[in-house]
Amino acid sequence: MTLPASSRFQFTPDLSICRVMNGLWQVSGAHGHIDPARAIPEMFTYHQSGFTTWDLADHYGPAEDFIGAFRRQFAGRFGAYRLNEIQAFTKWVPRPGRVTRRVVEDAISVSLSRMGVRSLDLLQFHWWDYGDDAYLDALKHLADLQQEGRILHLALTNFDTEHLRIITDHGIKIVSNQVQYSLVDRRPEKQMAAFCGEHGITLLPYGALLGGLLSEKFVARPEPRRSELSTASLQKYRNMIEAWGGWSLFQELLGAVKQVADRHRVSIANVAVRTILDRPAVAAVIVGTRLGLAEHMADNTRVFGFRLDSDDRAKLDAVSAKSRDLVKLIGDCGDEYR
Ligand SMILES: NC(=O)c1ccc[n+]([C@@H]2O[C@H](COP(=O)([O-])OP(=O)(O)OC[C@H]3O[C@@H](n4cnc5c(N)ncnc54)[C@H](OP(=O)(O)O)[C@@H]3O)[C@@H](O)[C@H]2O)c1
Repeated sequence: MTLPASSRFQFTPDLSICRVMNGLWQVSGAHGHIDPARAIPEMFTYHQSGFTTWDLADHYGPAEDFIGAFRRQFAGRFGAYRLNEIQAFTKWVPRPGRVTRRVVEDAISVSLSRMGVRSLDLLQFHWWDYGDDAYLDALKHLADLQQEGRILHLALTNFDTEHLRIITDHGIKIVSNQVQYSLVDRRPEKQMAAFCGEHGITLLPYGALLGGLLSEKFVARPEPRRSELSTASLQKYRNMIEAWGGWSLFQELLGAVKQVADRHRVSIANVAVRTILDRPAVAAVIVGTRLGLAEHMADNTRVFGFRLDSDDRAKLDAVSAKSRDLVKLIGDCGDEYR
């Protein structure tokens, strides 16, 4: 099982990525116990199947250490010269407060050391409070570290369009913004995607599978109680469904997605990911992976084996049209974190 050439995206002139990225929030501890002795070998299987691109963060438990261990073993097995086949995109999510060059440098040094790299492929920056414009100081320090070679590319996560514009107006070169984007949460379509398209910025969506709720497992199921949902991800997206239109509308959506999936002989997850991959400005979709606990590699490979047509899209759009307007309810991309 290997992925076709269409699974690759030239993300930057120097980085080709897999359009289905492996998300490592799922190893943070809030999604079941992950055993490193099983997780690291499984990272090889992902990589060798073509899923070569990882999304992680400084605060996703051992995720950065996993990349470090994987790279060490990979270099031992295949030679250090092949390490550039792995792409690892981390985040810096600083606590609110003053941001000095020292604070930024220390944080980046920790990630470099944990991941065992000389330069971070992509540093995605998060900020909690727009009332404090020190995010611009932080980004300037990050841009300096980039100049010095410790970061290859600068990116954001959960920034709204207004602040993305402020940042680009300050001359800071951003390559991507990681945001929630799914058949349920289509906020990026309001203004973010167009802004990104005009400014050569791509989107790295997460939540396309709603933590697994968008799958056969939940078809025709009564609304699960919070206590029945075993991962932080499932709980997070159950709340999103609640805001979007509730469980019965979600069942309608699942029914429509299943009809499309059956027509193409693929899974509900395949349709959910493909729909978002096809949207403007989207570079890749991040799919969470509970390494060593559950894997869907063979199924997720099928994302690259079919195309949606206008009838499919119309069927899905018809359900979306019945939902609440999440921009009005929550705000633009990332506003749920503020
Ligand atoms: N920047 C941010 O604020 C932010 C926030 C959230 C997530 N993220 C990133 O996005 C990643 C994705 O996380 P998410 O929480 O949004 O989860 P998600 O990708 O929507 O869902 C992941 C879950 O979907 C299930 N799944 C995967 N492939 C499947 C398939 N083919 N068929 C059926 N089920 C399938 C698996 O469930 P089982 O394991 O139960 O089988 C998996 O754990 C994270 O790891 C992280 O990297 C970023």
